[in-house]
Amino acid sequence: MNGFIFDAADERATGRLGAALAAAARPGLVVALEGPLGAGKTTLVRATAGALGVDERTVSSPTFVLLHQYQGRMPIFHFDAYRITCADEFLELGVDEYFASPALSLVEWADRVSDCLPTDRLTMRIEIAGAGRRFTITATGPESQRVLQRLAQSLRE
Ligand SMILES: Nc1ncnc2c1ncn2[C@@H]1O[C@H](COP(=O)(O)OP(=O)(O)OP(=O)(O)O)[C@@H](O)[C@H]1O
Ligand SMILES: [Mg+2]
Repeated sequence: MNGFIFDAADERATGRLGAALAAAARPGLVVALEGPLGAGKTTLVRATAGALGVDERTVSSPTFVLLHQYQGRMPIFHFDAYRITCADEFLELGVDEYFASPALSLVEWADRVSDCLPTDRLTMRIEIAGAGRRFTITATGPESQRVLQRLAQSLRE
């Protein structure tokens, strides 16, 4: 399986997905979040970080600072590429080192910097679907595949 769809009818369902992602993730995972303004990217990050023991109130879009760090059961790097105008600006943040470290990295507006992301990554494309959200989740490498399997399994339970 290279991917699956998860329909989140409301924010609570996104919370369930975030908790499942937190359980499935291993240090070093990079999650690319794609979707329009207000798609629910930050909501997913907040739920994931919360399930890893971070105070959810501290999680917000790092739109101006480009990166927030949280300390949960593993370190979390929360990027936002919304204001990035060129790939160089993103690379200058030192993203390669962050992505290579034993942390969970989540990138909002990942489609804007896709060339700078590791090929082995979990991509969550979010679409607004009526009052809810549709997540299309795909893996593009061995490690993200394993995460995807665990994620699908735990959402079935
Ligand atoms: N599954 C869901 N169903 C319905 N509404 C949701 C769902 N998930 C999040 N929302 C709502 O969508 C709105 C936008 O959420 P959020 O800020 O997470 O989006 P975002 O993609 O990070 O936006 P931005 O592009 O501004 O960073 C919030 O009001 C949130 O409550
Ligand atoms: Mg956001």
